[in-house]
Amino acid sequence: MVNLVLNIIPCLLILLSPISSIVLCIEIEEYYPEERNDLLQLMDYASSASDLHSNWTGPPCVNNRSRWGGIACSNWHVVHIVLEGIQLTGSLPPTFLTNITFLSKLSFRNNSVSGLLPNLTHLVHLEYVLFSYNRFSGSIPVDFIELPNLKVLELQENYLDGQIPPFNQSSLTSFNVSYNNLRGPIPNTSVLQRFTGSSYDHNSELCGKPLENLCPSPPPAPVFAPPPFAIAPNPAADNKHKKSLQLWITALIAAAAALVPFLVIVVFLCYYKKVHEKETPRREQTEKMSVPESTECPEKTSQLEFLNNEIPKFDLDDLLRASAEVLGKGNLGTTYKAVLENGQVVVAKRLKNMNELTKKEFIQQMQLLGKIRHGNLVEIISFYYSKEQKIVIYEFVPNSTLFEVLHENRGVGRIPLDWATRLAIIKDLAKGLAFLHQSLPSHKVPHANLKSSNVLIHQNDRTFHSKLTDFGFLPLLPTRKFSEKLVISKLPEFFQGKKLTHKADVYCFGVILLEVLTGRIPGEISEGIEETNGDLSNWVRMVMNDGWSIDILDLEIQAAKEGHDQKLKLTEIAIECTDMIPEKRPEMSEVWRRVEEIEQRNREND
Ligand SMILES: *[C@@H]1O[C@H](CO)[C@@H](O)[C@H](O)[C@H]1NC(C)=O
Ligand SMILES: *[C@@H]1O[C@H](CO)[C@@H](O)[C@H](O)[C@H]1NC(C)=O
Ligand SMILES: *[C@@H]1O[C@H](CO)[C@@H](O)[C@H](O)[C@H]1NC(C)=O
Ligand SMILES: *[C@@H]1O[C@H](CO)[C@@H](O)[C@H](O)[C@H]1NC(C)=O
Ligand SMILES: *[C@@H]1O[C@H](CO)[C@@H](O)[C@H](O)[C@H]1NC(C)=O
Ligand SMILES: *[C@@H]1O[C@H](CO)[C@@H](O)[C@H](O)[C@H]1NC(C)=O
Ligand SMILES: *[C@@H]1O[C@H](CO)[C@@H](O)[C@H](O)[C@H]1NC(C)=O
Ligand SMILES: *[C@@H]1O[C@H](CO)[C@@H](O)[C@H](O)[C@H]1NC(C)=O
Repeated sequence: MVNLVLNIIPCLLILLSPISSIVLCIEIEEYYPEERNDLLQLMDYASSASDLHSNWTGPPCVNNRSRWGGIACSNWHVVHIVLEGIQLTGSLPPTFLTNITFLSKLSFRNNSVSGLLPNLTHLVHLEYVLFSYNRFSGSIPVDFIELPNLKVLELQENYLDGQIPPFNQSSLTSFNVSYNNLRGPIPNTSVLQRFTGSSYDHNSELCGKPLENLCPSPPPAPVFAPPPFAIAPNPAADNKHKKSLQLWITALIAAAAALVPFLVIVVFLCYYKKVHEKETPRREQTEKMSVPESTECPEKTSQLEFLNNEIPKFDLDDLLRASAEVLGKGNLGTTYKAVLENGQVVVAKRLKNMNELTKKEFIQQMQLLGKIRHGNLVEIISFYYSKEQKIVIYEFVPNSTLFEVLHENRGVGRIPLDWATRLAIIKDLAKGLAFLHQSLPSHKVPHANLKSSNVLIHQNDRTFHSKLTDFGFLPLLPTRKFSEKLVISKLPEFFQGKKLTHKADVYCFGVILLEVLTGRIPGEISEGIEETNGDLSNWVRMVMNDGWSIDILDLEIQAAKEGHDQKLKLTEIAIECTDMIPEKRPEMSEVWRRVEEIEQRNREND
């Protein structure tokens, strides 16, 4: 339907006849109002540094021309929307451009658009879909595989996760999904196999051709064995007793004990007792476990609440029957690895000291955290609330922690952690934290407990990836006293009683950078840093004052001659991040960009 807009313009026509008069001229402008509505809707959702509001006025198309920035027209129809590098922010409307029927090119390249990718089902004429260099998250809509004329799809450098749908349009000649968090096998369609590895690179868990890392064969039944990852050269050392080495880093991981088969979390026992009191005990091992008489069994209030529908469900009873292993005892509670009878492995964290928390507060926070999905953040899959017990259930990451790979088994026989690996770990970490900050803008300090022992490392072929865990607990801690359990309580602004902000996490990130660069344990008094009270960032500042020198570097990366430029750059970022004044620290998104640049340059020089 074409709308006719009648612009009534006074035309001054001086007629040659003796009677001069004013004649009203009528200029006709045609356009499609539903296309205009769609564009205006887009403008309302996204805001930009360049002022679209004052530019997108009047009709979008005048036959083949448009007076609107970024819009191109053909036969009165909008055919191109190209809004590149104009600092577009915000997210796209859920239903999107449904009436711009003839759209063939849609580009938001190089902006900061966040949220899910739009549903483009109606846009059958689309040839170019260019969403690269943004902050899109979620998965690639499976509907994209049905765009019949799609030629170019650029999705690189976003935060996309999930699997790649089986694109197989023969029209597709250019495709790039690199630098995201996609996972799983690359579909074996003739079209997707046409592209090279560089279209798929830098997705932590993507596998299969044309990439070099092979997909794991179907998941083996989990065997009850020590974590498969070990940087230790002697695998015999499986009873890892961890030395509690330092003042504030170790708290959570301090107590990874030997395997304790059939150790069952008290709450599960209680639950079991209650539910099965009248039954004949079926399982000897639970019989043998004594439940402290004083432990009040929580009421059986509900089943576990699941946050991700893709994960097979289980209930408390299943958890109860699981074999459990203590992974760590920390300030916030004890963490267990649980192997369910069906072979599923999860991590359960039993929170302590949170009795004052109301059910509503807890559930709201868990639901909020459960929505956050990112390849560099450990996923919360489920939780349990009762008055006395609060349990958070996480995905299991077959892991080690950054703390362990950096500091454990130092000495003879250790396999050094090389510079490229350190950079890869740091890059993942920066990316995950930047995403967390973006996802929880209303939180004072989104992570609040960032330290090397809360960075889980998993190995995929020979590449290392990291995931952050233990985030998002600050809003659950009622008072300052409880906040002292978190890493942020070691920060200058905490001591000074100042307001805490996102920049508290940035500081903690800076400390981890220093830890990775120097190989030293933050806060630990060791040779050479006594005079600074064990404050690592002060120590590094002191060294930097005399000019940067490789002396500050961990011996394991000092020897390699290459990459000193990058090491210096990373040290500079660390120094900025650990500035005493929170406002002077950079934003996490900027830190992430800079770290990525450094990592990329390092790879090019390789
Ligand atoms: C698109 O067109 C349909 C009818 O053709 C209409 O119902 C709908 O409201 C339009 N959408 C917008 C955003 O104008
Ligand atoms: C909008 O911006 C474009 C260039 O960016 C310009 O050519 C056009 O005249 C502007 N339109 C209006 C209505 O200001
Ligand atoms: C507008 O462009 C189309 C092709 O895109 C062409 O067929 C048509 O003649 C053009 N119309 C005018 C008035 O230039
Ligand atoms: C991205 O956009 C910014 C402006 O927002 C510009 O300075 C930069 O050069 C652009 N980068 C690329 C790769 O196009
Ligand atoms: C996209 O929109 C189409 C048409 O409205 C609908 O059928 C389809 O289910 C939508 N896809 C998603 C993933 O919402
Ligand atoms: C991919 O598909 C082709 C034929 O469609 C087949 O020959 C090839 O073995 C498949 N590759 C894998 C890894 O499944
Ligand atoms: C993809 O398309 C090609 C030809 O267009 C076809 O031969 C093939 O069977 C399709 N499917 C897969 C999985 O490759
Ligand atoms: C894909 O994008 C990445 C990142 O921008 C780039 O390095 C790579 O060369 C691109 N690959 C292809 C095939 O376009």
